[in-house]
Amino acid sequence: MFENLKPSKPDPILAIMGLYREDKRADKMDFGVGVFKDLSGNTPVPKAVKEAERRLLEQQTSKAYVGMAGDLAYNEAIKRLTLAEAAPGDRCVSLQTPGGSGSIRLLGEVIQGSAPSAQVWLPTPTWPNHGPTLSAAGLTMASYPYFDFASQSLLKAQMFDTLAKVPAGDIVLLHGCCHNPTGADLDMADWQRLTDMALSQGFVPFVDIAYQGFGQGLEEDAAGLRYMASRVPEMLISASCSKNFGLYRDRIGAAIMIGKSAEATQAMRGALLARTRLSVSMPPAHGAEVVREILNDPALEQGWRAEVDAMRRQIQSARQSLADQMRSLSNSDRFDFIAQQRGMFSTLGLSDAQVERLRDDFAIYVVGGGRMNLAGLRPDQAAPLARGLLAVMED
Ligand SMILES: Cc1ncc(COP(=O)(O)O)c(C=O)c1O
Repeated sequence: MFENLKPSKPDPILAIMGLYREDKRADKMDFGVGVFKDLSGNTPVPKAVKEAERRLLEQQTSKAYVGMAGDLAYNEAIKRLTLAEAAPGDRCVSLQTPGGSGSIRLLGEVIQGSAPSAQVWLPTPTWPNHGPTLSAAGLTMASYPYFDFASQSLLKAQMFDTLAKVPAGDIVLLHGCCHNPTGADLDMADWQRLTDMALSQGFVPFVDIAYQGFGQGLEEDAAGLRYMASRVPEMLISASCSKNFGLYRDRIGAAIMIGKSAEATQAMRGALLARTRLSVSMPPAHGAEVVREILNDPALEQGWRAEVDAMRRQIQSARQSLADQMRSLSNSDRFDFIAQQRGMFSTLGLSDAQVERLRDDFAIYVVGGGRMNLAGLRPDQAAPLARGLLAVMED
């Protein structure tokens, strides 16, 4: 019965991780995998998470089902963290999901259930799972220009020209902050212009925010989407707690929807719950409980915010040290963008051959197009990384 199944294509990032593990060179460096790493190469569990888990372990008396809507206090807390005062009261619903990925899929299914012919406009480039996940929900993708690797700059004119043609009822996907894979973000003027376009053209913004706190700060990183959320009639937001709470494997995120009216929003809530029922039935509890504990205890929240600030500072200083090395070794300022971009990723626009040469000749592991996760770059690695990059780029 299953003879028609085709072998699935190996995930390129997992394949690179395998090669890295087998590499015997002592000076090998991994910039491929998309998780935060501290300077010893570990992906830490934040102290606030450990403390919340300790409390949960003591308090938990049952593992009975939590219900389709998950943890109601979490649903409110994550809405507050993402939208703060911009959450439009009874026009906003927030529902716990298994990771940001679970949220994207769930929101895709809700769109499909209501407007199956709506196209989703994705930036080029974007996180490689956006298209496949939303297509699996039955939607059709379109694309708009976003970033040019050669000049390492946003293609704003082309982006706005293309988006000006998006019809009413289509969806425009935007990265809330720390664009993956380019590290190049929209500024407030762009968010304002996109808000005006959504209002006049009638398209629906869908903001994916997976790195809140890793760019400029927890509040700053959400400023653009908050501006938009307080003005547009309808909007979708997918939030992930994987990176900023370090809860990757616990799979916790949220699907947030803004509706035209309280009634319409109730219908959205119903659709979110019905779709959840048909897939996972009920979301997993642990990650939501941890985040709820942290965000509902001012002391714990303050400690967590300081930990996010420290992660961001580490990323920023890694970026600065690589940019400094590139400047002094290349005798030019053309790599200064590395320090200006935000979040864990920059992508140099390398060919497959250059990526392979980096790996073979310099034991430097990056993924497709030369996407580098700079979070775990140690100060002593900045010079050898810069030397390798310049060698493969200048040949
Ligand atoms: C842009 C973007 N969105 C969503 C996700 C999903 O994150 P998760 O499902 O692990 O919470 C990621 C993860 O890498 C991402 O980079």
